[in-house]
Amino acid sequence: MIQFLLNQELRTEHALDPNLTVLNYLREHVAKPGTKEGCASGDCGACTVVVGELEIDGEGREQLRYRSLNSCLTFVASLHGKQLISVEDLKHQGQLHSVQKAMVECHGSQCGFCTPGFVMSLFALQKNSTAPDHQQAHEALAGNLCRCTGYRPILAAAEQACGTQRQPDQFDQRQSETIARLKAIAPTDTGELNSGDKRCLVPLTVSDLAQLYDSYPQARLLAGGTDLALEVTQFHRPLPVMIYVGNVAEMKRIEHFDDRIEIGAATSLTDCYDALTAEYPDFGELLHRFASLQIRNQGTLGGNIGNASPIGDSPPLLIALGAQIVLRKGEIRRTLALEDYFIDYRVTARQESEFIETIIVPKANARQVFRAYKVSKRLDDDISAVCAAFRLQVENGSIVEARVAFGGMAAIPKRATACEQSLIGAPWSSATVERACAALANDFTPLSDFRASKEYRLLSAQNLLRKYFIELQTPHIETRVTSYV
Ligand code: FES
Ligand code: FES
Repeated sequence: MIQFLLNQELRTEHALDPNLTVLNYLREHVAKPGTKEGCASGDCGACTVVVGELEIDGEGREQLRYRSLNSCLTFVASLHGKQLISVEDLKHQGQLHSVQKAMVECHGSQCGFCTPGFVMSLFALQKNSTAPDHQQAHEALAGNLCRCTGYRPILAAAEQACGTQRQPDQFDQRQSETIARLKAIAPTDTGELNSGDKRCLVPLTVSDLAQLYDSYPQARLLAGGTDLALEVTQFHRPLPVMIYVGNVAEMKRIEHFDDRIEIGAATSLTDCYDALTAEYPDFGELLHRFASLQIRNQGTLGGNIGNASPIGDSPPLLIALGAQIVLRKGEIRRTLALEDYFIDYRVTARQESEFIETIIVPKANARQVFRAYKVSKRLDDDISAVCAAFRLQVENGSIVEARVAFGGMAAIPKRATACEQSLIGAPWSSATVERACAALANDFTPLSDFRASKEYRLLSAQNLLRKYFIELQTPHIETRVTSYV
């Protein structure tokens, strides 16, 4: 059984298809068709909903946190213990919500198909910021596409609806009541949603997760679902057994130590962004371009590593930083250098029933310079053609340590060992960099696909190393996040 609030209505679900997305649940099961399906793959934002969740703030107080999500990529079981708000819930006592009013008054809608998604992204922005600037508004809306209106009126609506003048809405007024109701339905044991031979289990502790995964080694682990849900929505392949890890609090923690940050594998990319930006600004910049806000709110760091995509953006950065992962099977844990996790295309060192529990990221060392670069066709919400990360330590003009990693250049995210060897011990000079660029051709034989040709990929990788060198010579030049194919 799973329980959640549909706005203020308590829903208890036992026998729903675990492969049912929140989008289809809203449209087909509870007669709320305001949420639209555009792409069913997380690209357009027409299906945006907001999910409220109880969290403990820095001072130990319970608070309600609202986040925008793509309902087309969210399975219903992941709502267990949360509040789901759809566009129908915004109108109150016959009056449009202030974000809806702003969209009308600023002429932010024409055919209206995208409008519910924009409205919900604006609602989440209003809930999470006070007077957002243009950049914050842009970021909140970057995952919503409109084919007719144009974005200027929608950004004007954001300014109008989210400015300092806004009045409390019905959600603000009911906040304590909602917190009390969410506490009352807070899960106390493993939840389950099943139908026929399909089931999704929702454990609360990492020990329970380990036991369940031992019992169901064939299960697919569901974290944010931004990749896994595509198997259902795009490829129409049913997922018979899933274990949802998003309610395991131990796997959503971020802990800072003197020498490292430990990040639970189920931590959302949004939360990782906050923690890693403080330590490595380039990591933050890249996460900013990683995907839409909805996807970053859903997707997890463990998921981005675990699916072993050759074009996942965080692995090359983490590899260059010397990150490790803690793998757990039952009660047994082992720690692995991240680069040793990836073996071949979608093949990893993970054993049956083993899962990524924690990612360990070394803290920044003032003597090392870390930079990351992403080359993609579009600035926001696009997949990398090449992703590069460099961490070098130079002492007395010579390179004493070099870690270089790339995504998009091989079947796995991979260190450039020949390049590193040509750098270590050499003077930090353009001649050394040219030798290292030549060595990259020994490290990689990239593929051609619709994102880039193999020649383009290799040349880009070499040019990114040249760019790193130039930026370090002239630190005022910072062009690392604006590369395009
Ligand atoms: Fe396009 Fe969900 S329908 S993002
Ligand atoms: Fe038509 Fe946006 S108003 S797609």
